[in-house]
Amino acid sequence: MARKSVCCKLTSLEVTLIILFILMTGIAVGLMAILGLQMNSKENKVAEDLTSSVKPEENPYLIGMGRADCTGPVADIPLMGYANPDQTAGGIHTRLFSRAFIVDDGSKRVVFVSADIGMVSQRLRLEVLKALEVNYGNLYKQDNVVLSGTHTHSGPAGYFQYTLFMITSKGYVKSSIQALVNGIVKSIDEAHKNMRPGRIFLNKGNVLDSNLNRSPHSYMNNPEEERKSYKTNTDEQIVSLKFTDLDGDGLGIFSWFAVHPVSMNYTNHMVSSDNLGYASYLFEREKNIGSLPGKGPFVAAFPTSNSGDVSPNTRGPHCMNTGEKCDFVNSSCPIGGNKMCAAFGPGNDMFESTRIIGESIYSKAKELYGRTQQEVHGNVHYAHQWVNMTDVTVQLSSTHSVKTCKPALGHSFAAGTIDGGGDLNFTQGAIEGDPFWDGIRDALLGKPSQEIQDCQNPKPILFSTGEMNWPLPWHPEIVDVQIITIGPVAIVAVPGEVSTMSGRRIRQVVKQELETNNAFTNPEVIITGLCNIYTHYITTYEEYQVQRYEGASTIYGPHTLSAYIQHFRGLAKAIAEARTLLGKTGELSKGPEPPFFKDSQLISLVPAVPVDKTPTNTTFGEVLEQVNPIYKVGEVASVTFVAGNPRNSGDMRDKTFVTVEKFLTASSTWEVVHTDASWETRFHWIKGTGGQSNTTVEWHIPLSAETGTYRIRHFGHSKKFGFPSPVFTPYEGTSDTFRVTKTLYSF
Ligand SMILES: *[C@@H]1O[C@H](CO)[C@@H](O)[C@H](O)[C@H]1NC(C)=O
Ligand SMILES: *[C@@H]1O[C@H](CO)[C@@H](O)[C@H](O)[C@H]1NC(C)=O
Ligand SMILES: *[C@@H]1O[C@H](CO)[C@@H](O)[C@H](O)[C@H]1NC(C)=O
Ligand SMILES: *[C@@H]1O[C@H](CO)[C@@H](O)[C@H](O)[C@H]1NC(C)=O
Ligand SMILES: *[C@@H]1O[C@H](CO)[C@@H](O)[C@H](O)[C@H]1NC(C)=O
Ligand SMILES: *[C@@H]1O[C@H](CO)[C@@H](O)[C@H](O)[C@H]1NC(C)=O
Repeated sequence: MARKSVCCKLTSLEVTLIILFILMTGIAVGLMAILGLQMNSKENKVAEDLTSSVKPEENPYLIGMGRADCTGPVADIPLMGYANPDQTAGGIHTRLFSRAFIVDDGSKRVVFVSADIGMVSQRLRLEVLKALEVNYGNLYKQDNVVLSGTHTHSGPAGYFQYTLFMITSKGYVKSSIQALVNGIVKSIDEAHKNMRPGRIFLNKGNVLDSNLNRSPHSYMNNPEEERKSYKTNTDEQIVSLKFTDLDGDGLGIFSWFAVHPVSMNYTNHMVSSDNLGYASYLFEREKNIGSLPGKGPFVAAFPTSNSGDVSPNTRGPHCMNTGEKCDFVNSSCPIGGNKMCAAFGPGNDMFESTRIIGESIYSKAKELYGRTQQEVHGNVHYAHQWVNMTDVTVQLSSTHSVKTCKPALGHSFAAGTIDGGGDLNFTQGAIEGDPFWDGIRDALLGKPSQEIQDCQNPKPILFSTGEMNWPLPWHPEIVDVQIITIGPVAIVAVPGEVSTMSGRRIRQVVKQELETNNAFTNPEVIITGLCNIYTHYITTYEEYQVQRYEGASTIYGPHTLSAYIQHFRGLAKAIAEARTLLGKTGELSKGPEPPFFKDSQLISLVPAVPVDKTPTNTTFGEVLEQVNPIYKVGEVASVTFVAGNPRNSGDMRDKTFVTVEKFLTASSTWEVVHTDASWETRFHWIKGTGGQSNTTVEWHIPLSAETGTYRIRHFGHSKKFGFPSPVFTPYEGTSDTFRVTKTLYSF
C-alpha cells in the first residue's frame, strides 16, 4: 500500500477550498437555523439563546466540562486488567475520575467521557444511558454520547455482563458498577451545568521515549511498504483539544496518546489511575491552584488511543531471573518460560515509572496548550451503529469476500504479555494447540466446532466463547461503532484495544471518506480505544497470523479489523453526506440492539465483608505504629492504624479515607493539605486473619513541602453483628504530630 505523507504546507488550491468550506459551514449553520432543527428540551433552548448572541463563525460552540469521582470499592475486589486472581484491591494510591466534555454547535451536541477505568463495558454503558434518559430525556443518547476508559489496570472490576469478564471480576459487583455509573453521570451533569459559549483549539505534537511496541514480531508481519511509511512501530503523536471560554480562559484539555496504562504492575494492590491518570492529575493540579486533587473547575483528560500493542515499560522485556533478553518471537525465558519475561522502566520501581511516563505526557500536553494552535470551526455531527460482529461480510474485491467469526480466544491469550504474563505454561505466538490444555478444555468446556476453528484459522482456539452460553454468553455479539465530529476533528470510538497499525488504517480510511466531495478539508481523525463495550483486541490481518497475545485476543477472527473499517467507513460517509447537505442523515440503520442481561446481577462471587475485629485491648483507629517526631522533605512519614474494611464505609466518592493536615499557627487550626486522591499519599489496607485488618498511611513528603507541624488522619467504619442488620460505626484515628523540615537540623 503506497502512502502519501500528510503535509502541512497549504497550496493555494487548498486555501481556496478552506475558504469555500468556511463559507459553506456558515451557510449550513444559517440553513439549519432557518429550518429550526429540533430543539426539544429546555437546555437546548438555553443553548439557542446563548449562541444567537455570539458570532457563529467565531464562537459557534457551547462548551461544558465536568469531572467526578468514580472510585468504587477499594478492598478485596479484583482489579480489572491483568486478570490476576491475586491482585485484589487494598487501598488507594490515586482516586479514579470520570471527565467529560459536551460541545454544542447550536443544533447538535456531543458528549465525550474519559474515565479512569479499565474499559467501558456494555453493561456499564447501558446503565449510564438509562440514567441519562431519566435525567435528560432524549438529549443524551447512544448516538451522541461516547464513553471511553483510559485502560488503567488498577481499578475495581465487576461491571460486566458477559461470562468471561465476570469470571475474572468474581461476578457482578454492585458497589463497583454503581460508583462508575454515578461518577460518569455526575461528570456529564457537571459539564451540562456549566455549559457556556467557548472556543476549541487543536494541536499536535510528539511524546518521545514514552512508549514501546510490545509485539514487534507481529508488527513486522505487516507489509514492508506500509511499515516504511511510518518512522516508528508505535504512534508517538499526541493530539490535544483545548477548550476555552470567549475570554480565552482555559476550561480544559483532552489529549489522546497511545500507551497502555500498565506502569503499575500486577503486584500493585492500590487503586490507581496509572500513567494517563497521573498526567491528568498534574495538569489539573497546575490549573486548579489551591484546590485539593479532583477539585477545581479545570478538566484535563488523557484518553488512550491505538495502544493495543503499546507498553509504557520502556526499558523493554527482560528475564526477571537471569537478566537475559526474552525470546523475540514468543517473549519467553530459557528458565521459567513466559512468566519470567517482563518489561520494566523507565523508573526503578512501578511508582517511579508511572511518574516518569505521566510527566512526559503531561509536559507535552502542557506545551501544546501554550502554543499557537489551529482553532476548530464548523458543525458537530455524530453517527452510531450497533453491529453484529459475528456476522459481517467484508467485500475485499469484486470477487472476494470474507467473514467475521463467532468470538474465540487463542492459546496465546493465556500467555499474557510482557506487561504481565499468565500463570500457566502458555507462550505467545502459538499457532498450534497444546494437547495437554486442549484435552482439559475439551473435558471441561467441550471441543470448538470445526466451523469456528476454520473461521478463526490460524488461531488455535483455547476458549470457543462464541459457543459458550452458560450461565450467560461469554462474549458479546452486538457491539457499538461510533464517530463524533467537531468541525474538522473526528473522534472514532473503537470498542476494544486497537493495535498501532490497525489504528493507522482506520484513521486513513475515515479521513479519506470524510474528504470525499470535500465534505471535510484535512480532517484530523483521532482514534479512541476502549470505548462503549469491551471486545479485547483488534489487530491487522497480518498481525493476526502471528498469534501473539494481541492476535490471539482478536476475538472475531482474522478479518475483525476489515469489518470495523467497513463500518467506520460507513459512519464517516453518513457524516460527510450530512455535512455537505447531500443528505440523507438517518439513513444509517440503527442495527440490532444489544441485550441487557438482568440476571447477570444475580451472579456475585464476592463474599460479604465479615465483621471487623480489633487486636486485644485496642480500638478502631488506634495507632499501632506511630510516626517519627521529625521528617526531612523527601522522606516518607508512615503510620499504621487498627482498621475496619474500607468497604464498610459504603460510597466514598468525593470523600477521603486519609488526610495529611498542617497546623496553622496563626489560627490554631489544622488545614487539609492532602487526601487519599493525592499522588503523595498511599493508603494501604492490609487484611489480616479473623476479621482483623490494618491501614498503613504513607506520606511521601515532596521536596516542595512547607516546613511545619503536621499530622495524618484516617477515617473508616467498622462492622459488627446486629439484628436485623449489621451495624456500621464510624471511627477515626490520628497520628502524633510531627515536624517536617528542609534539613534535619533546622528547627
Ligand atoms: C520460543 O521460541 C524459541 C525460538 O524463537 C524456541 O526455541 C522456543 O522453543 C519457543 N518456546 C516455546 C515454549 O514455544
Ligand atoms: C512490579 O514492580 C515492583 C517494583 O515497584 C517490582 O519489585 C516487581 O518485580 C514488579 N513485578 C513485575 C512482574 O513486573
Ligand atoms: C448475530 O449473527 C449470528 C450469525 O448470523 C446470529 O446467529 C445471531 O443470532 C446474531 N445475534 C443477534 C443478537 O442478532
Ligand atoms: C504445559 O504443562 C503440561 C503439564 O505439565 C505439559 O503436559 C505441557 O506439554 C506443557 N505445555 C507446553 C507448551 O510446554
Ligand atoms: C489487656 O488489658 C488488660 C487490662 O489492662 C490486661 O490485664 C491484659 O493483660 C491486656 N491484654 C493484652 C493482650 O495486652
Ligand atoms: C498490624 O500492625 C501490627 C503492628 O505493626 C502488626 O503486628 C500486625 O501484624 C498487623 N496486622 C496486619 C493484619 O497486618
